[in-house]
Amino acid sequence: MLNLRSLRLVPVLLLSVSVWAQAPLTASQVSPPVDWDKELALNMPADLNPDPHILEINLEAVVKEMEFIPGKKTQVWTYNGSVPGPLIKLKVGDRLIVHFKNKLPAPTSIHWHGLRIPNNMDGVPDMTQPMVQLGGEFTYDFVVPDAGTFWYHPHVDSAAQVGYGLYAPLVVEDPGEPKIPGDELILMFSDMSLDDEGLMQEPKAGGRFGDLFGREGTVVLVNGKVMPTLQLRKGKQQRWRVINASRTRYFTLRYKRSPLVIVGGDGGLAEHTRTVNEIKLVPAERHDFVFTPPDAPGVDGKLRWYPTDRGYGSTYNRLAEDIMNMHTVSEPAVTPMPVPEQLRKIAALDIKDAKERTLNLTIGYDRNENVSMGINGVHYKDAAPYMIKVGQTEVWTIRNDTDFSHPFHLHGFFFQVLATTEPLLWKDTVDVPQHSVVKIAIKFDDRPGMWMFHCHILDHAEVGMMGHLHLER
Ligand code: C2O
Ligand code: CU
Repeated sequence: MLNLRSLRLVPVLLLSVSVWAQAPLTASQVSPPVDWDKELALNMPADLNPDPHILEINLEAVVKEMEFIPGKKTQVWTYNGSVPGPLIKLKVGDRLIVHFKNKLPAPTSIHWHGLRIPNNMDGVPDMTQPMVQLGGEFTYDFVVPDAGTFWYHPHVDSAAQVGYGLYAPLVVEDPGEPKIPGDELILMFSDMSLDDEGLMQEPKAGGRFGDLFGREGTVVLVNGKVMPTLQLRKGKQQRWRVINASRTRYFTLRYKRSPLVIVGGDGGLAEHTRTVNEIKLVPAERHDFVFTPPDAPGVDGKLRWYPTDRGYGSTYNRLAEDIMNMHTVSEPAVTPMPVPEQLRKIAALDIKDAKERTLNLTIGYDRNENVSMGINGVHYKDAAPYMIKVGQTEVWTIRNDTDFSHPFHLHGFFFQVLATTEPLLWKDTVDVPQHSVVKIAIKFDDRPGMWMFHCHILDHAEVGMMGHLHLER
């Protein structure tokens, strides 16, 4: 029976309950806002294989009609009908089998950007495999050896084909890694060159200037969407894995200069964290960071793109652009979780006996006054491969005396950037800013074959800024 004495306790109880309710929850105690990443959802491929360590999928390159400019139709080139193509998610040591069909009106291939896989899976036509012809098929089959954020794209006429929409993310997780707080969001930034009617511009639009500057699209896409909306909750961290899949455009991104804790990049986690207020993402590069939503409940903001100084004409008279809506939901703030500072042990490569090479990135003109780029003054079609022995470590000095920056990419092997103040990290793509020098160290493990390296401004690669190496036992 309820007596008067116990009734007097009720207000005390109510008071203590409300005090308890006001103490903020921590980020790990709450789920992300409902449908927080719905507008950024990526396609997931169906797994045809019952083995939990094998992902076996069908992948079709196919033309599709989509809408980027309201009311206008655009013909895009896609993997399985979406831009970006399907997200491939694996664990270290898993095997991936891709039954690839080409239904495009042109030959193509798939390059698995950043993956240290056998040479015959690298996707370079006439070097590691024949082109996949119209109506043709090819099976990619390999084991993924490293954790990290990667992507895949064609390696035939790549400036045009990537520009038309052929790119997709691939993420490899390592269950043994330290736990990074935050809800995972994989973001592919790209752009497309569309006119007002939604028609794709010619891949060679802008002629010689287009070759020199590279072709930046007119419409910026985030996971294939124009200005999508992301839902946030104050203090509820998100882990963003970002990939630049545009053929030329650099992305400098900021959200109100709020801190971003970088935990890794191309080839997985860095040695330790680094906190920045903006990120610079050059074509083909990836970053992995923890973002803590800073806004009060109910506030709306925009993620902004800022022009990056990547040489002549890249910043003059150009304004920042809003590229994603950031809506903070009205639920109360939560307390963010600590991010571990020490992430991974990475030994610096031993470069005592390294062979040194200098790669001068060069721009010139050919007999017909066409732009001709190259390495050490040699256009790709005239270049002889570097001869390298398995097990060899090399130090490459990449010199850029041109008036444009070049994001340098090496196929099949990670490298370490030397003389940088940033935490040690395995990379496969590094910016070489105009009039500067970047040194990298590479250890060539036992995967013989022909491997490419090139500028990942794909318009530059197409006019010759590529080279290849022959790795032998
Ligand atoms: Cu994403 Cu040959 O490269
Ligand atoms: Cu370049």
